Amino acid sequence: MKGYGVTIAGIGRYAPAGILSNGDLEKLVETSDEWIVQRTGMRRRHIASPEQATSDIAIPAAKAALEATGRQPSDVDCVIVATATPDYLFPATACIVASALGMTGKPAFDISIACSGFIYGMTTAASLIRAGAFKSVLLIGAETLSKIVDYTDRSTCVLFGDGAGAALFERSDEDCFLGSELGADGADPTVLYLRGGGSRLPFNTNGKADRSAGFVQMQGQAVFKFAVNMMAQSSRNALARADLKPEDADFLVPHQANARIIDATVKMLKLPPSKCVTNIQEYGNTSSASIPLALCDAVADGRIQPGNVVVFTAFGGGLSWGAVAWRWGSARVGKLPQENIEPERPAHIVPA
Ligand code: UT7
Repeated sequence: MKGYGVTIAGIGRYAPAGILSNGDLEKLVETSDEWIVQRTGMRRRHIASPEQATSDIAIPAAKAALEATGRQPSDVDCVIVATATPDYLFPATACIVASALGMTGKPAFDISIACSGFIYGMTTAASLIRAGAFKSVLLIGAETLSKIVDYTDRSTCVLFGDGAGAALFERSDEDCFLGSELGADGADPTVLYLRGGGSRLPFNTNGKADRSAGFVQMQGQAVFKFAVNMMAQSSRNALARADLKPEDADFLVPHQANARIIDATVKMLKLPPSKCVTNIQEYGNTSSASIPLALCDAVADGRIQPGNVVVFTAFGGGLSWGAVAWRWGSARVGKLPQENIEPERPAHIVPA
């Protein structure tokens, strides 16, 4: 039996006012603007204030997505937050976000699959709607990675930033979900991980946890090679589920982890660079928020148009990967709250 159709009705984003530039990072660690730009493509990142947790930036992004559609919180059947930096280990950040939006009582849960979170979330949200479980699902990718970055470690601190993006999925006559592929390989979780705070190294270890347990750690080159292969392969496979090839895609919206990873993926898929959406220079790597942040840019400036075939792809801790092929509907972008916010120096990271 064929299920229901699903579309994305509205999208929204939020990025905190704190701005950490490459010049700021030069003051913190032995690095240079030139190294960062050449090796990563990044120029600045948005940084949450010490008071802002992940739910605090997820909520304005969610409100923007709702505002774009004219829907009320009461119209939403389920809230999913994809995040690697939840407010707490439990309860789920989605519960906090849903109640703050006035949706107490609605189902709400987190997806914890690091930078692949939005791709897993898209597949989950679309599948729940296609199966008839819900008529509308609000998916938010939100991260405050600055809270788990060691600003004395140059191999990681230049990479990560904070932000949130949201998409409202709704039942529709037209089915925009073309296909998806998800994957994971947990043979060596330490390739990219946060060592402390879980059951293997709980916080209450009476001093056994050293300082690095609270910070993201990564084998950069191993992740790099894996990323290019898996984003290209999963994009191809997601498109193939709808009998499409990479050349049939109008746009690629990849996880924004490194401009060189993105360029290599585009080459592997033999796509013209103009089909690839990147905004890494502005946000750095915002993990599960990077895809919706990039999507909002490309819809807001009119690049992505109704009817376009868009491939979303990501990789991350797990290791994990995935891609979703989507026919873009008529979703609009909610107002962009950060445009009204004065940029600030994140004084808790770069003192005056
Ligand atoms: O969402 C998923 C999260 N993770 C990723 O996507 C990470 C994927 N990996 C990468 O993006 C890249 O591997 C990095 C950007 C992390 C590193 O770039 P790389 O071209 O692989 O550099 P490398 O690790 O091979 O290091 C080259 C040199 C080393 O110095 P030596 O040994 O050649 O003297 C590093 O110590 O660059 C040095 N280096 C830096 N120099 C200046 C490493 N980080 C920095 C830095 N500034 N920030």
